[in-house]
Amino acid sequence: MRKGLIYVCLTTLALGVAPVVLAGPSQADIDRGKELVFSRKDGNCLACHKMDDGKLTGTIGPELADMNTRYPDRGILFKRIWDETQFNPQTVMPPFGRHSILSKDQINRVIDYLYTL
Ligand code: HEC
Repeated sequence: MRKGLIYVCLTTLALGVAPVVLAGPSQADIDRGKELVFSRKDGNCLACHKMDDGKLTGTIGPELADMNTRYPDRGILFKRIWDETQFNPQTVMPPFGRHSILSKDQINRVIDYLYTL
């Protein structure tokens, strides 16, 4: 009886929860992220970082590429965009999260896009 119940719970977990956890970002999430990164009034990341098909970019920051390889831990990438001063107190990169330039959700969309680079 008890075993049966546990089995039902595990099956529910496997069928109901796993696909949600495993699902990656949608194309809409990625497009929104690129919009935020490229927009002069939101991320404006191109002012300092070369990446993707961005034109007339600055080179104050390093080129953003190979993000999956360089940031296997999404949490670290999030922290750097939230507040790069935690990693380098002298940085010129704005602390996007700490200064409310981008919301938590917006930073997550930015990261969805960066992981396509
Ligand atoms: C005013 C210039 C500036 C802007 C704007 C800027 N950055 Fe940066 N960023 C830098 C600099 C300079 C560094 C180098 C590390 C440091 O200074 O601590 C850096 C480092 C980084 C890093 C870590 C280094 C690496 O190679 O992975 C990431 C990720 C990053 N920036 C992402 C972003 C994103 C995303 C945006 C837009 C939301 C952005 N940056 C906007 C200047 C900038």
